[in-house]
Amino acid sequence: MLSKKMEAEFNTQINKEMYSAYLYLAMSTYCANVGCCGYASWLKVQANEEMEHAMKMYDYVLERGGDVVLEAIEKPQSTWNNLVDVCENVLKHEQYVTSCINHLMGVAVEEKDYASNSFLTWYVNEQIEEEANADELCKKTKFAGDDKNAILLLNEKLAERK
Ligand code: FEO
Repeated sequence: MLSKKMEAEFNTQINKEMYSAYLYLAMSTYCANVGCCGYASWLKVQANEEMEHAMKMYDYVLERGGDVVLEAIEKPQSTWNNLVDVCENVLKHEQYVTSCINHLMGVAVEEKDYASNSFLTWYVNEQIEEEANADELCKKTKFAGDDKNAILLLNEKLAERK
């Protein structure tokens, strides 16, 4: 059985994962609108992954006898300055999510909730990959800079993400 404190923390994180999906979908829309369909596709896959993160947590809370309370999802911003701005914000957001997961893990440790501790290890590891992917996207986009051919090539490569 999940403690009330742990249950509330998981509910907050479910909302944040869903917000992440919203944010990446908004970024995907922006990229599609500026003609970068590869970036749009990469971000759409990222948005779907965020929903998977949320649903994995949703299932866990129910499995542990907790209640899931779905709160309103904050409206994400809808425009960015350019592709670099989008990528920098993906990285910044992933760093923020890492801090949220670390906080959640900290509460599980405090509460001596070993099952949640074990469950959250997957998220701790996932965040290493999430930050690394965002960092790579950022670096490559900055490297391409104003070179339209390089951006087009990168755009095609990003479209391959499934
Ligand atoms: Fe659910 Fe990208 O962290």
